[in-house]
Amino acid sequence: MLPLVPRPAELTRHNGFFALHAGVRVVAGPGAARAADLLTGFVGSGHGPEIRLSLRPGLGPEEYELDVAEDGVTLVASAEAGLFHGVQTLRQLGPDRWPCLRIRDRPRLAWRGVLLDVARHFMPLDFLYEFADLLALHKYNVLHLHLTDDQGWRLEIDGRPRLTDVGAWRSESMVGAAGSTVFDGVPHGGFYTRAELRGLVVHAAARGVRVVPEIDLPGHVRAALAAYPELGNHPERRLPVWTGWGISPDVLGVHDTALDFCRDVLAQTAEIFPSRHLHIGGDECPTTQWETAPAAVARAKALGLSDTAELHAWFLGELHGFLGELGRKSVCWDETGRSPGRLPPAMTVASWRDAAHGAQAVARGHQVIMAPHTSTYFDYPQTDGPGEPPRELVTTLADVHAYDPLAGNLPAADPDDGGRPGVIGTQAQLWTEHAPTPDHVRQLAFPRLCALAESAWSPGPRDYADFQARLAGHLDLLRALNALPKERVRFPGAVPTPRKPRT
Ligand code: ACM
Repeated sequence: MLPLVPRPAELTRHNGFFALHAGVRVVAGPGAARAADLLTGFVGSGHGPEIRLSLRPGLGPEEYELDVAEDGVTLVASAEAGLFHGVQTLRQLGPDRWPCLRIRDRPRLAWRGVLLDVARHFMPLDFLYEFADLLALHKYNVLHLHLTDDQGWRLEIDGRPRLTDVGAWRSESMVGAAGSTVFDGVPHGGFYTRAELRGLVVHAAARGVRVVPEIDLPGHVRAALAAYPELGNHPERRLPVWTGWGISPDVLGVHDTALDFCRDVLAQTAEIFPSRHLHIGGDECPTTQWETAPAAVARAKALGLSDTAELHAWFLGELHGFLGELGRKSVCWDETGRSPGRLPPAMTVASWRDAAHGAQAVARGHQVIMAPHTSTYFDYPQTDGPGEPPRELVTTLADVHAYDPLAGNLPAADPDDGGRPGVIGTQAQLWTEHAPTPDHVRQLAFPRLCALAESAWSPGPRDYADFQARLAGHLDLLRALNALPKERVRFPGAVPTPRKPRT
């Protein structure tokens, strides 16, 4: 049993092995240099039998063909992305010798992502580098960075220094689930400079991973309001960066100051992140303040909207249009206020509540990233034992492995084919309210990220016993890479046992 995760589409094993210990020579054809550099980082390159990487038209955009023979290895793809995937497959075949085989492999879904929430807890830059490596190892191609939220603003913005001077720091953090009355008394914060984020983008791209930033608007903005109260509906109020979890009633105003802020931040974000998709949040935005704020009431009236709640879709539509002018595509969460049908169909929707909402969004004409919380929220406990995060639902490894983003015969779609509605992919969510350190994130991530990688990459049918057998060997590699915590960590606010099985 070869410890390959995700399982390749087609694999034929032959007799014999290609030995690495006596040295190899990595040879790159035109356009294959970055993939060859990546491989050289894993196996070295000097004298010895050849590992030849080359581009050849005729394969799919991320497809690759790999031939391992005793006297040499060839890896062929039509594009660099396929070569990167082939390099990761080689890496998973072992450090000393590779079994002779032939693999032809391609992804099931185009968008294979992982969200990391660096707003609730700031994560050190070197961990983001490591994390991008680990995504690439599992053939994920999107690192979705949740950069801003009520509890912290993590992205340096030119001309708006208080976002990071003030908005990146909070006095303490809630311990336990939203509504808890316990706080830790420990200041927390941090932010990334533009140069640091550009460096991360380059590092990830050299592994076939693109970094998709999220600026969460117009809710989840307490950190921005702490920095610049005039962005809100009550400029006279001084709000600290939020120390609690949950949904804050304090949201952006619907006045020009707020919209200009959003455009400026998004334009600067687009300069840092070349990704075609930029995420503008849109989730959990109570519109109560807009019912009485004079600017919001006036805006709704001027636009002929019957209800201030409709301002939410209008707001997101404005930002979508602005990103379109920059040549970018907007992504927002599917929980889009009370008028989801009003979002421009060209917005890509990340469906985080029930999978049924994803199907509805496809029916409304959207391209959809399936991220249903019951299967893809890895901040949920993975067992019903003690020490797990204080969340209600348990999402086990088996639950994740059983998840099919195309269940119900949803059509798969390609984000590059002009916007035909359908499911472009799936992604895991690592929210970090209860995950203060990289080790907490590692423990939440693994091995569930391995299982979702199969849902995203491998063709059906899925066989859990077969996955577990491959995973056993793969976990040795993850241990060798220090991807797993040395000891099980306990989550702050952990309750004795999480209660509910998955619905
Ligand atoms: C979300 O969980 N509010 C996207």
